[in-house]
Amino acid sequence: MSYLIKPCRKIQGCLDLRGDKSISHRAVILGSIAKGRTLIKNFSLSEDCQATLRAFKSLGVKIEKKGKDTIVIYGQGFSGLKEPKQAINLGESGTSMRMLIGLLSTQNFESKLSGEKSLFKRPMLRVIRPLRLMGADIKARKKGRDEYPPILISPANLRPINFKMYIASAQVKSAVLLAGLYARGTTKIYEPVKSRDHTERMLKLFGADIDVKGKNISISPSELISPRKIYIPGDISSASFFMVLACLLKKSCIRINNVSLNPSRCGVINALKKMGADINIIYKRKNYFEPMVDIVIKSSNLKGIVVAKDIIPSLIDELPILMVAASLAKGRSVFEGIGELKVKETDRIKSMVSNLSRMGAKIKTQARAGKETIVIEGVNVLKGANLRSFGDHRTAMSMIIAALCADSPSRIDDVKCISKSFPDFLKILNQINKL
Ligand code: S3P
Repeated sequence: MSYLIKPCRKIQGCLDLRGDKSISHRAVILGSIAKGRTLIKNFSLSEDCQATLRAFKSLGVKIEKKGKDTIVIYGQGFSGLKEPKQAINLGESGTSMRMLIGLLSTQNFESKLSGEKSLFKRPMLRVIRPLRLMGADIKARKKGRDEYPPILISPANLRPINFKMYIASAQVKSAVLLAGLYARGTTKIYEPVKSRDHTERMLKLFGADIDVKGKNISISPSELISPRKIYIPGDISSASFFMVLACLLKKSCIRINNVSLNPSRCGVINALKKMGADINIIYKRKNYFEPMVDIVIKSSNLKGIVVAKDIIPSLIDELPILMVAASLAKGRSVFEGIGELKVKETDRIKSMVSNLSRMGAKIKTQARAGKETIVIEGVNVLKGANLRSFGDHRTAMSMIIAALCADSPSRIDDVKCISKSFPDFLKILNQINKL
C-alpha cells in the first residue's frame, strides 16, 4: 500500500532503538552452538533476525521469547545442531544465508537453504568459493558467472585455508570464520580493507580461539562457552535516518540512547561530522564487547563531502541516507567505489538516483577507472514526488527522510519492506515529528 509523507518542520525527542541487526544475528548463531544458556536482551525485531531465529529452531535449538525483545537460547554445544526436517527458509535475509552457508558446510548432515523471491537474486559465490577451497560440498543455482540460492550443503570435513579477502564483506569473512571454527587446523584471513568485525568480537565473547592483529585474523577449532547474558546495543544503521533528519530540519535536536558505535561501522558519524554536523557522542560502555554510546544531534548546515573507496565498508548501509544528506548539503559530494550497492536488496545506485532525481536533486553516476561513483551537487530544496521503494528497506527509509524535508507532500509506493530491518521506523518518526 502506498504511503503519504507530509513535510515536517522539526523533530525533537529522546529515543531508544532496538538492538543492532548484525550483532543480533551473530548472538543467535554463536549462542546456538555454545555450551550453556544465553539470555539476549534488546534483540533486533527485524524480519531478517527473526529468520535467523527460525533457522536455528529448525536446527534443533530451543529458543524462548520472553517479552518483546528478550530471548533465551539453550546452546546445543559444538556438535549439537540437528538435521533440519525440511529446507530452511531464510526469508529475505542475505546475511542469514551467507553466514549459515559457512556454518552448515561444517556439519555432518545435509541442509537445504531457501528463501523468498528477493533472496534468489543475491549472489552467493563470494561465500561459496572460499568454502569450497576448504573442501565444502555446496551446490547452488548457477547463473552467468555467479551462483544463487537455493543452496544444497552436504557433509564434508573442512581443511583450514589462508584466505585473502577479495571483497570487503563482513558476511564473507563471517562465513569463513564460522567454517574455520570447525576446520582441522588454523584458518587465516587477511582483509586488505577492514569490514565490520562483529563476528570477531562475538567469537571472543564466547571464548573462541581467535586472534585479530590489524588486518590479519586467525581462528582455530574451539568449544564456545556462553557468556550467559548479552545486551545488544541499538542499531547505528537505524539511528542514521534520524541523525540525518535532525541535521536537515531547523530547530531540531534528538538524543539516541545506547547505540552501538563499533569503529569498523562508524563511518556515518565520521562522514556527517566532516559535513559539519553538530553531533555529540557520549560514551556509556566503552569496554563492552561492542562499544555503546548516546548520540545527540542537532540542526546543522551541512557541506559536501568526498567519501573515498576505503571508507565505504564502514558506512555501506548508510550510503542511501548519506546521499539524501548530500542532496541538501552545500556544494559537491562524491561517493567513490560504491559498486557493492548494486547487489543489496535492490540496486541501490539505481533506486537512489531515480528517486532523488524525481525530487529535483542533482545526482549522477560516473564510472571512474571502472569504479562506480556517485556525484551530487547539493540543492536548496527537494520537491515532493512519487517515490518507489524498489522493495528495499533502506531506499524506502532514506526516501521518507528526504520527503519529510521536501517543500510539498510525497507518496511512496510501499513501506512494508521496512520491517526487514526496522519495523518501528514509522512509529518512532511519528513520535519525534513536531510538525
Ligand atoms: C552485514 C554486512 C554487510 C551489510 C549487511 C549486513 C553483516 O554486507 O551490508 O547489511 O551483518 O555482516 P556485506 O558483507 O555484503 O558487505
